Amino acid sequence: MDRLVTLPIDRWDAAPAPADQALAIEALESGRVVWMPALAFGFEPRESVLFDPALGAQAKNISLDPRRHLLRGTSADAAARELLQTMMQRYADAAGRIVQALLPRYGAGLHWGRTSFRPCEIEGRRTSWRKDDTRLHVDAFPSSPTGGRRILRVFSNVHPQDGTRRWRLGEPFEDVARRFLPAIRAPWPGSAALLHRLRVTKQPRSPYDHYMGRLHDRMKADPAYQTSCDQIVHEFPPGGTWLVYTDLASHAAMRGQYMLEQTFLVEMAVQADPARAPLRVLERMLGRALA
Ligand code: SIN
Ligand code: FE
Repeated sequence: MDRLVTLPIDRWDAAPAPADQALAIEALESGRVVWMPALAFGFEPRESVLFDPALGAQAKNISLDPRRHLLRGTSADAAARELLQTMMQRYADAAGRIVQALLPRYGAGLHWGRTSFRPCEIEGRRTSWRKDDTRLHVDAFPSSPTGGRRILRVFSNVHPQDGTRRWRLGEPFEDVARRFLPAIRAPWPGSAALLHRLRVTKQPRSPYDHYMGRLHDRMKADPAYQTSCDQIVHEFPPGGTWLVYTDLASHAAMRGQYMLEQTFLVEMAVQADPARAPLRVLERMLGRALA
């Protein structure tokens, strides 16, 4: 399987042809990356002070809630905070525009998630194995269960020089699930309510979120799987943007610095082919409803 589809889009306010819209939705829902090497997100000259890993404090991401205009995870002073917020809000708007133009079918089923700015070099960074995104994984939100909604992400490499972002892309979701699902136990009865009461999760966790969290962990915790599974390495140079369903496409980020990312949550009801969504794949394998 080709893991990437390349589109020649070079403007955030592009009006993609119907053929490109169809290509994009088919690629994304089948677990491919839609790569737009000419879609660059520009920084203004005064924003060059934001190319500073120290802005990130201890957090690996600086995050923005683009609807509430809430900025988190930065130790920047007031002036830099203001620049960060403006720049990230502009990115959120740009990402929203291109996603709506490329995937008009999703309409009101497309919801805003967080915007993040990742100013730190990934390579050599120390984290726990669970947070280590240099290991192949599918995304799952431990504290914000999606209840089956899809995780669609827009990434832009904004490195001001030649720093590429190096990813690995792994095997199809069905293969991941076939390998790890049989050993994953069902959630304990009552565990969803308990985790919610203890505020481990913001909403009660669906069985789907339980299984996705376990899949994420099992993949990362298996060093033999990490090196032996079918995979490719792909470099995303600066000045490019890519879209991917990170709950479906197995991915890992190996090196790179200065990236922007916008998350969207997409309802199952607007999927062009819901049968390929992780929720439906897991339900088929387990023979029961999960959300
Ligand atoms: C991830 O989503 O696992 C990390 C992606 C990145 O930081 O490039
Ligand atoms: Fe990830």
